[in-house]
Amino acid sequence: MKAEYKIAIIGAGNIGLAIAEGLIASKVTKSKNITLTRRKHHLLDQYEQLGFITTKNNIKAVQNSDIIILSVEPSQADGVLDEIAEGVEENHHLLISVVSGLGIKHIKKRLGKNIDIVRAMPNTAIAIKDSMTCLASTSSNGNSLKTAAAIFNTLGLTKVIREEQMAPATALAACGLAFFLRATRAASQGGIEIGFHAEDAIEIASQTAKGAAGLLLCNRNHPEFEIDKVTTPRGVTISGLNQMEHDGFSSAMIRGIVTSAEKASRLYVTEEDDEE
Ligand SMILES: NC(=O)c1ccc[n+]([C@@H]2O[C@H](COP(=O)([O-])OP(=O)(O)OC[C@H]3O[C@@H](n4cnc5c(N)ncnc54)[C@H](OP(=O)(O)O)[C@@H]3O)[C@@H](O)[C@H]2O)c1
Repeated sequence: MKAEYKIAIIGAGNIGLAIAEGLIASKVTKSKNITLTRRKHHLLDQYEQLGFITTKNNIKAVQNSDIIILSVEPSQADGVLDEIAEGVEENHHLLISVVSGLGIKHIKKRLGKNIDIVRAMPNTAIAIKDSMTCLASTSSNGNSLKTAAAIFNTLGLTKVIREEQMAPATALAACGLAFFLRATRAASQGGIEIGFHAEDAIEIASQTAKGAAGLLLCNRNHPEFEIDKVTTPRGVTISGLNQMEHDGFSSAMIRGIVTSAEKASRLYVTEEDDEE
């Protein structure tokens, strides 16, 4: 990947800024090569002080870039695509969209340009280079996916999926971050009730969650295999675990993920989708 790619992040909100921070932390590029846009661009002052270019002029940002990262809300995307279309150049720009629910076919049609488009579904752990990012492209040449993977591989793990799996990926990877955070908070609340100060409880719970995930990622074992090592007959772990299952622990997580995936699949339905 070219070290000095110029990147425009159109819609520098939660995820746009997390990507910008991750790109700098992983040394993919320097802050002077990243343009951040949002309408209330004064809210980006602290990023300007860190060397990023900040503006509310989306076209200027696009014209000064090789890679466009689109990170506005789904309802804002069409307006932004109409606005930037004149600045987008075929055979030059790669557009990476993290907008949930917005299809590649729709983006191409709206831009009226035949450019390479990759959809990416990261989560906010991208700011600390620990995202799970799912990538999809419909382009027959693999170069755009390679470029996107080269960027996002420095920001955590990536997985290439089919475009129709993007809504499920939104639920499992992007919303999933909140699910595991809530589970960690619940664990820490239990920890407080059994005698730890709040800050100790959250630290113990967070490191324990990190260790559990690390075991799965390092050993590539099934979670139950690792659980079997912790649960002795008539032991304390199995009694706590079974109590959680009686109260619907696994079922609540599964239902939450299915509900989020269903909602993600309805986030952005266009007239042409309705016609199909
Ligand atoms: N947050 C996540 O964990 C996550 C993960 C994966 C994907 N996503 C997707 O990423 C997208 C953004 O999510 P988010 O949570 O980052 O939302 P957000 O914090 O609301 O960010 C959206 C940003 O877009 C800016 N914006 C709106 N209209 C604009 C325009 N015309 N020109 C330039 N900037 C504009 C907004 O700032 P102004 O109002 O100042 O313009 C805002 O800062 C969504 O489609 C979401 O589904 C989010």
